Amino acid sequence: TSIVVENAGQNPVHRHTRNLRMEPGAREKLVATSLEAARDELDRGLDGLLDRDVPVTERPGEPVPDGAVVVGTPGSSPLVRESVPAADLAGVGEEGYVVRSVTRGEGGYTVVAGNTEVGALYGTYAFLRLVQTRKPVTDLDISESPKIRNRHLNNWETVRLYAGNNADGTGGLNGENGSVFNFAATGPSAGRNLPVVLDRYIVVARALASTGINGITVNLVNADNVYLTDAYIEQEAALADALRPYGVTIALSINYTAPTDPRFAPDTLTEAQLDPYGDAFRGWWNRRARTIQQAVPDFTGFTVKANSEGQPGPQDFGYDHGDGANGIGAALEPLGMTVYWRTFVYDADVDSDRLKRAYLEFGPIDDEVQEDGSEGRVAENVFLQTKNGPLDFQAREPVHPMFGRMENTNQALELQITQEYTGQNTMLAYLGPMWQEVLRTDTYATDEDGGLLEHRRVGDIVDGTAQGHPDTAIVGVANLGNAANLTGHHFSQANLYAFGRMAWDWTQDSGRLADDWVRMTWSNEGPVADTVVRMMTGSWEALAGYQTPLGIGHQFAADVHYDPYPSQWFVRDDWSPVYYNRADSAGLGYDRSPTGSNLAAQYFPVLRERYSDIRTTPEDLLMWFHHVPWGHRMESGRTFWEELVGRYQTGVQYVTWMREAWDSLEPSIGARRFAEVREKLAAHEADARNWRDTCVDYWREFSGRPMPVDQGPAS
Ligand code: GCU
Repeated sequence: TSIVVENAGQNPVHRHTRNLRMEPGAREKLVATSLEAARDELDRGLDGLLDRDVPVTERPGEPVPDGAVVVGTPGSSPLVRESVPAADLAGVGEEGYVVRSVTRGEGGYTVVAGNTEVGALYGTYAFLRLVQTRKPVTDLDISESPKIRNRHLNNWETVRLYAGNNADGTGGLNGENGSVFNFAATGPSAGRNLPVVLDRYIVVARALASTGINGITVNLVNADNVYLTDAYIEQEAALADALRPYGVTIALSINYTAPTDPRFAPDTLTEAQLDPYGDAFRGWWNRRARTIQQAVPDFTGFTVKANSEGQPGPQDFGYDHGDGANGIGAALEPLGMTVYWRTFVYDADVDSDRLKRAYLEFGPIDDEVQEDGSEGRVAENVFLQTKNGPLDFQAREPVHPMFGRMENTNQALELQITQEYTGQNTMLAYLGPMWQEVLRTDTYATDEDGGLLEHRRVGDIVDGTAQGHPDTAIVGVANLGNAANLTGHHFSQANLYAFGRMAWDWTQDSGRLADDWVRMTWSNEGPVADTVVRMMTGSWEALAGYQTPLGIGHQFAADVHYDPYPSQWFVRDDWSPVYYNRADSAGLGYDRSPTGSNLAAQYFPVLRERYSDIRTTPEDLLMWFHHVPWGHRMESGRTFWEELVGRYQTGVQYVTWMREAWDSLEPSIGARRFAEVREKLAAHEADARNWRDTCVDYWREFSGRPMPVDQGPAS
């Protein structure tokens, strides 16, 4: 075989070419085009997978060598032009690709074609995936394009404990400055800070592009204005240059009151000028964004966390979220940029039930009739970015009631890749099945006359089919570190992978994605791969079992979000585990049915009724909606108390099984990675037991019931 990429260097995309440099001794190469990236991926990938030196040519001469892989666009490559009819490519759009086997006489070649170079790069990764997972690569005829346009990461770079570092911030994988991206000109890695491009930025770019992710907000949502300063913009420009050939664009998190920050003097505003309808406010944001655009021409926009967890926002100045979002939206609109306005708000004055607050704030803005008679106030270039569930990235939540209810507003779904509440970098928890459950949840959304919409699953709403929005977005919260695997735990990388693949096509099966990842990461040997896939596919359900079974909300110790502490009281009651569990002698769980807070009423009628009745609420969500009597009869025939203890127990048993299953794989896995995972699984098992024992012991004080036989804590 051979690799043919014609005119690979034709369209360089760097802005800072002259300044742009890799760190001394870099292993990765700085490429200037997506076709060069594709060529290098094939070169490296096929050499490694086939264990021989596969020749690369830019101009093949005639004829194309048999078995060659030809990559390009109709514009870059005469060969692509003659091999793939324009009409076939037309259907795959800007980022899609066609991978096709072309027969010529006795032989033939494979063509990987995109309308754009990035499309061809995505096709290249898809082709390599087939080779790497040992799928047939003859008679190919694949056409693919993403279902969602913005497949975006939010990198929470300074939240170190979730993925990269030890909880105390020491000795961790993010050791340098807490971020995979190094902006700091002082500290241990001074001199290696941007604009110097580190190897790992290219690794990040390759990792993201290989799964289909095409954007990243580089800084934490609790934003520091330093990222908007001229000095940082220069650094961001270098990063954007390095990522651009891989189709990855950057965005920034901003702080609503940045215009008043003296760091921008003399261009600063007074608080009185923070009127989202005023020229001062809009002009300021437009100028800042324009400055960024000059350095980063494909800069995509801003992520905003406002009036949430102490962040400032429009409500501090007498305006609401719609006013604030539209103010910044209007500033960015002429520049073709987008605002991702987060809906993670829970102002205690809005309602006593934290889970109801976001919809109560945003719903009326969506319903509002405008002067021109249209409905909904939020501007076209604003996404409301909403977490999958109404609380905060717990192992299992009902879907957020806002999905589908915001008929007139563009909604972006926010999922959490980094395992903040799902075991951090200790527990093996593959979240693909959770996201599959979320994306496939039927919202039972109705049209104006109350008839059920045809397309109404969460995925249909996010990909624009349900409500006809042309721009679409899905966002994954990541916390990339500088470990070789970027994520701290070897298996956490699977979550990054699955997020990207599902962002591209949310209908994909999480088990199949796990299978792909395992074959590319661990082993192609059937029994080995099957065992690892089996470990992964049940791991999330196990986690939900030993942490928060049957819908028992947030039971985490303060701040750390790792250990259990069901009895802990905080000053703010809606931060206390006790607030969610409501344990008493009658039962356990938070009544959100019509006899309680009636969160259920925020859903469309079918779900509203289902969640209102303890008999029809899915058992996995039971305590999100009901205060469940200890003696309540469950589907299994057991009492609620017995079932609850059983769930904790089976969750732990699964972890024990994972540890044993992993041990059985020792002969098939490289020694270092085998040992690293083994060590994690040992800690995982101990911590899962701790969850079970701490919680069951505490619930028992209230239930007053005996431990169910054979199901009690046995550690
Ligand atoms: C969680 C997390 C915070 C984060 C917040 C958010 O509460 O613990 O660190 O800032 O989510 O989504 O904004």
